[in-house]
Amino acid sequence: MGIDQIKTVGVVGAGQMGGGIAHVASLVAERNVIITDISQELADKGLAGIAKFMGKAVDKGKLDAGARDAAMARIAAHGSMDPLAEADFIVEAATEREDLKLQIFQKLDEIARPGVILASNTSSIPITRMAAATSRPGEFIGMHFMNPVPIMKLIEIISAMQTTDETLQTTIELGQAMGKTCIGAKDFPGFIANRILMPYINEAFYTLHEGIGDPAGIDEVMKLGTNVPMGPRTLADFLTQRRRIFCGHVGLQIQHGYSVSTMSLFRIFRAAWNSGILRHPVVLLGVAGMEALARCLGAFDYLFKRDHAIWSVAQTTKGPVDG
Ligand SMILES: NC(=O)c1ccc[n+]([C@@H]2O[C@H](COP(=O)([O-])OP(=O)(O)OC[C@H]3O[C@@H](n4cnc5c(N)ncnc54)[C@H](O)[C@@H]3O)[C@@H](O)[C@H]2O)c1
Repeated sequence: MGIDQIKTVGVVGAGQMGGGIAHVASLVAERNVIITDISQELADKGLAGIAKFMGKAVDKGKLDAGARDAAMARIAAHGSMDPLAEADFIVEAATEREDLKLQIFQKLDEIARPGVILASNTSSIPITRMAAATSRPGEFIGMHFMNPVPIMKLIEIISAMQTTDETLQTTIELGQAMGKTCIGAKDFPGFIANRILMPYINEAFYTLHEGIGDPAGIDEVMKLGTNVPMGPRTLADFLTQRRRIFCGHVGLQIQHGYSVSTMSLFRIFRAAWNSGILRHPVVLLGVAGMEALARCLGAFDYLFKRDHAIWSVAQTTKGPVDG
């Protein structure tokens, strides 16, 4: 299906990413949007989140109120995927669990018309494996948006082994219509951004743990020394405000070369422990909730006296396994 035929974009999952994708599909690409979640309440909550985000932009004078109203009017929220029969392109942004996504794509495969492209916003599940679960692997692709979607300029585009050139081209054009720069990445754990980012953040923590620098110093060195807008500590806290163990989760997946998203917290820890990979002990300890052991580490003060996410073992035990 070509870009001109895409009048309605479907989004599965009305959470942080789904809401952002619906936002740019409507406001920037000026497409009709159907956003769905597992209940009408959650879908409406997602819609309210989009309205709030756009409302702030209006308040700051960055967005015209008329454009906001028109964009909101183009978005319909539903508690079931059935209305996606109307969609011409569907992006899945549901909870990061492979079994769940496979079920969603099998259902979407039945609901969506032939030729409609199915894209996944997964951070860590192989695109090729999900494509193979559908009867349209040629029309399957990875579209890895960055958080927060309305602000971040990048989409990593990941072709499955089966993705056709036409699917790739249409997806890039849709991403561009959403105002994004699309960069291709191979279907490999972490793609490009997370493959580099997660070890970077882990290494920053290790630098703290070994006492090479203090938290503020590590951030300042990286900001002033490498010209990044935010240091690794600030970035880790930002990324994990809602995704408590995101960094550990994706970081582990990158190191092991497989998705840990379907494993229980205990199994994550046990697998890492058994394989002898304890290069990032604080993250692993956090995942396992072994706060007491963390007290042995040199990072004790920072971990227990400040309320930060991935930097805080206590915090990492509270949230969902999501990425
Ligand atoms: N948060 C990030 O920084 C980030 C960045 C890039 C990619 N991602 C990926 O985006 C996806 C979504 O992440 P998120 O941060 O938006 O999570 P989230 O928890 O904010 O939202 C996920 C939503 O999916 C919904 N959902 C679950 N099962 C569903 C189903 N069967 N049908 C419809 N909706 C369903 C949940 O109710 C929830 O509202 C994940 O694959 C994640 O790896 C996240």
